Amino acid sequence: MIISIASDHAGYELRQKVVAHLKELGHEVLDGGATTADEPYSYVEAGKKIAEDVLGGKADKGIAICGTGIGISIVVNKYKGIRCGLCANEYMARMCRQHNDANVLAFGARVVGQAVALAMVDAYLTEPFAGERHAVRVNDIKAMEEEFYK
Ligand code: RB5
Repeated sequence: MIISIASDHAGYELRQKVVAHLKELGHEVLDGGATTADEPYSYVEAGKKIAEDVLGGKADKGIAICGTGIGISIVVNKYKGIRCGLCANEYMARMCRQHNDANVLAFGARVVGQAVALAMVDAYLTEPFAGERHAVRVNDIKAMEEEFYK
């Protein structure tokens, strides 16, 4: 799988761990965002890169990290076609795939530790979308996008 991952400065250190984990699993990684934890880097720029990689077909899925995960999840969810789940545990990461067909996973580096982050990544990358009644709801979201995104 090709994964686009990016973070601001607050997510930089955890992102290095996640990138190493993704590579160990054999995924191709498009790594973007802050290049150091020591200088401010906007989560807006990091989120834009992930959304554009996913929507442009360069990446199959995205992983978005900032301090809380909130700012960057707001950014990617501004894009038509992005469904980003902001998660804080493995169950949420599994459900954002199973029920919401999320194409971006977001989490906060100041909220979760490395072990939880990697467990969330594993759940997110392996859990299939359940379809059926959940597909009806996801299609309703898509219909909302058609109505409201002019
Ligand atoms: C950066 O200090 C922090 O505001 C950012 O990482 C994020 O938590 C915003 O939602």
